[in-house]
Amino acid sequence: MEDQIERTLVLLKPDAVKRGLMGEVISRFEKSGMKIAAMKLKWANPDSAGQHYGEDIITRRGEKVRQLLIDFITTGPILAIVIEGVNAVENVRMMVGSTEPKSALPGTIRGDYSHISYARADAAGKAVANIIHASATPEEADKEIHIWFSEEEIYSYKTVYEDLTF
Ligand code: PPS
Repeated sequence: MEDQIERTLVLLKPDAVKRGLMGEVISRFEKSGMKIAAMKLKWANPDSAGQHYGEDIITRRGEKVRQLLIDFITTGPILAIVIEGVNAVENVRMMVGSTEPKSALPGTIRGDYSHISYARADAAGKAVANIIHASATPEEADKEIHIWFSEEEIYSYKTVYEDLTF
C-alpha cells in the first residue's frame, strides 16, 4: 500500500517563541523536506487553548495538568504550523522527541532545547516547558488543525522535493 501524505499540527509554545527558537525549529522541519502548509503567530485565548487541550487530556492526565497547559500556552504568543508530508504525524513526533524533556534524546527538538522533568515542573506548580506540541495521531491532527486554521489558510503547492523524489 502506498504511504499516505498526512497533515499534522505543531505549536511552538511561548517558551520557544520567547527564547527565539522559532527559526531553529522551522529550519529543521524545512530541511526534512516536509512542507509547511500553514503558519501563524497567535496569542491563544483560554477558549482556543481549552479546545486544544480538551476532555481527552483530563482523561489522560487530569484536570490540574489540563489547566496548567492552558495557563502556559496563553502566557505569550505561540507559532502554529501545519506540516504536510509522508507519514507526517509520526515523522514530526520523532523529530520532536519524548514529551518529558528530561527523557528526550539529543538530536530531537525537545532533547536539544529543553531538559526539565515533570517532577520539577509539578513541584513548581507549572506546566512542563517542553518547547513544542505535535499531534499524536492523524485523527488528533485533523481536530487540532481546525482549531487553529480555517481551510482557506492552508495552502497547496509543490516543493522542489516533490519534483525530485515523488
Ligand atoms: S502526548 O504527547 O499527547 O502523548 O502527551 P501526554 O503524555 O498524553 O501528555 C499530554 C499533555 O500533557 C502534558 N503533561 C504534563 N504537564 C505537566 N505535568 C505533568 N505531569 C504532565 N504530564 C503530561 C504534556 O506536556 C502534554 O502536552 P503537550 O503540549 O503535547 O506537550
